[in-house]
Amino acid sequence: MNLLLAPMEGLLDATLRDVLTRAGGISRCVSEFIRVTDTLLPERVFFRVMPELADGGCTPAGVPVRGQLLGSDPVCLADNAARLASLSPHGVDLNFGCPAKVVNRHGGGAALLDEPELMHRILREVCRTVPAGTVVSAKMRLGTQDDARAVECAQALAEGGAKELVVHGRTKLQGYRPPAHWDRIGAIREAVAVPVVANGEIWTVDDARRCQAESGCTDLMLGRGMVCDPGLALAVRAAVAGESAGEGAGTGARAPTGLDWAALQPLLAVFWDRVRLHIVPRHQAGRLKQWLNLLRRHHPEAEAAYQAWRGETDGRRIALGLLGPEGAGPGGEGRTAGARYTAGSLPSGGAFVPTLSPRHVPVFQGPGDLGVRTQERCADRPGAATQDV
Ligand SMILES: Cc1cc2nc3c(=O)[nH]c(=O)nc-3n(C[C@H](O)[C@H](O)[C@H](O)COP(=O)(O)O)c2cc1C
Repeated sequence: MNLLLAPMEGLLDATLRDVLTRAGGISRCVSEFIRVTDTLLPERVFFRVMPELADGGCTPAGVPVRGQLLGSDPVCLADNAARLASLSPHGVDLNFGCPAKVVNRHGGGAALLDEPELMHRILREVCRTVPAGTVVSAKMRLGTQDDARAVECAQALAEGGAKELVVHGRTKLQGYRPPAHWDRIGAIREAVAVPVVANGEIWTVDDARRCQAESGCTDLMLGRGMVCDPGLALAVRAAVAGESAGEGAGTGARAPTGLDWAALQPLLAVFWDRVRLHIVPRHQAGRLKQWLNLLRRHHPEAEAAYQAWRGETDGRRIALGLLGPEGAGPGGEGRTAGARYTAGSLPSGGAFVPTLSPRHVPVFQGPGDLGVRTQERCADRPGAATQDV
């Protein structure tokens, strides 16, 4: 069973990928989308969104990260995919699910679900352009207004060369409103020959099991559920292992649980260390409160902390309250992220390897700070498959 960590622009960046993969249970991550318009992005843009590229494309816990591109121009996407591939990520993923107006207005993300022929062309062009051996995958929703063309879209992607599809079981119109339609993911799984990963509304072990049953997919992608409960992936694995070992409900087997608040403390400390190192001071409190806000869905202690510090604008004061003077560290500039943590202090038992080279980790100015522009245009390559096939 593969459990993937979902891409989440503005929330699940390299900092949270680091923390959540230390928690354990995650097989692979996908980066937040890197938006491609009509330019060939400089390497620093890829490193900014995916600093793991400087370290073999893996998080410090050793979990591989795949880079995600979002755009609608097949040639430009292909050229940028080739550049990304040259930096050795663990594959290139293409976004066909973003519902944001600003993205859809330019024909990218979920808007492409009305144009399966263009989706096919994008995949074909990207697969033709990246070096052999680069895995290209795609992430899609069920449609824009309805799911009538969901299977057609998935087939367009698979036949275009996608080696794996992640399907978020909702249309663009449905946004993030529950439920996610796991049975519709099952219809896609039956219609394509490539592996399908089910995604959407998996908050608990029970959700994961029902999603697997309804979609027929073994592999799952976890998004908000994992941010709210960093122990979710481990708990899902424990449940699946327990069932295959013959344990089950009513047998007296201990119910699988996530990580409790005490087990989260080292992860919160790593998070704060990275926030201090990579985020300008005026945004540090915001980043802490953003995660606390989501953690409180699962942890009453996070609710108490969030209520206590919701008006606080100084990140270090929140960190002091959460982690004490030792955990909050000295004032002033950050230290090397997580360097004082040992393998035993992490829930996953994974050794910490200080990996981030400051050269590749520019200061994050806040959500939406992806707007690097370059004058380099995408190649007008002869023979580029820009015409319909
Ligand atoms: C804040 C936020 C940002 C997101 N950013 C991306 C993104 O960059 N790329 C992408 O493919 N999906 C993105 N998504 C969609 C998620 O990857 C996922 O499909 C969705 O949240 C459903 O899964 P969940 O119910 O487990 O959270 C985003 C979702 C949220 C809530």
